[in-house]
Amino acid sequence: MKPHDALSDPAFLALASDGVMTGATGSYEKLLGDLAGVYLDDDAYQEAVASFGAERLAYRVEVNQLDEGAGALIIGTSTVLPGRVGDEFAMTRGHLHVKADRAELYYCISGRGVMLMDTVAGDSRAIQMTPGEAVHVPGHWVHRSVNVGDEPLVTLFCYGADAGQDYQIIADAGGMVQLVVTDGQDGWTTTPNPRHVGYRGAAA
Ligand SMILES: [Fe+2]
Repeated sequence: MKPHDALSDPAFLALASDGVMTGATGSYEKLLGDLAGVYLDDDAYQEAVASFGAERLAYRVEVNQLDEGAGALIIGTSTVLPGRVGDEFAMTRGHLHVKADRAELYYCISGRGVMLMDTVAGDSRAIQMTPGEAVHVPGHWVHRSVNVGDEPLVTLFCYGADAGQDYQIIADAGGMVQLVVTDGQDGWTTTPNPRHVGYRGAAA
């Protein structure tokens, strides 16, 4: 990345429906084997690892970042492959921004997704996104994206480059407040997560 006193050039980004972003400066992948403890049904998770292998791609992120610090943006695409573990749909690990007041935009490019969001006080929301739809996640909401369709869920995201990501807050809470599960037909619903014990930092 450039020195702090240098002026960045503008970037051109092209966003393909498969999540490939022309102009990306970085990328990372999460594999099925990276997601131990994320899903409620551990037996189903172990079966999935046994069937598909720990190296199976779960989701992929491409990012474009020009500058660091307050005021800069991280722009990227997230591609979550479809599937279920037990009754739960495939999803990202989820996080709260370390600078918790940092908001984030998610815009659905392809597929059918749900943005699952909690406050540390225990308020919980699930908002569906299909192509052309977006969710504005305010600061102070824990968030993860869930693929409730049968094709890859591709979203464009944009958030402050100084936000940081605290993944551990969800693990410490036993998962998020709600699970996004099959409704037994073609759709999704939410159900309380019996393992959720409340978020650290919540008022007693
Ligand atoms: Fe985020």
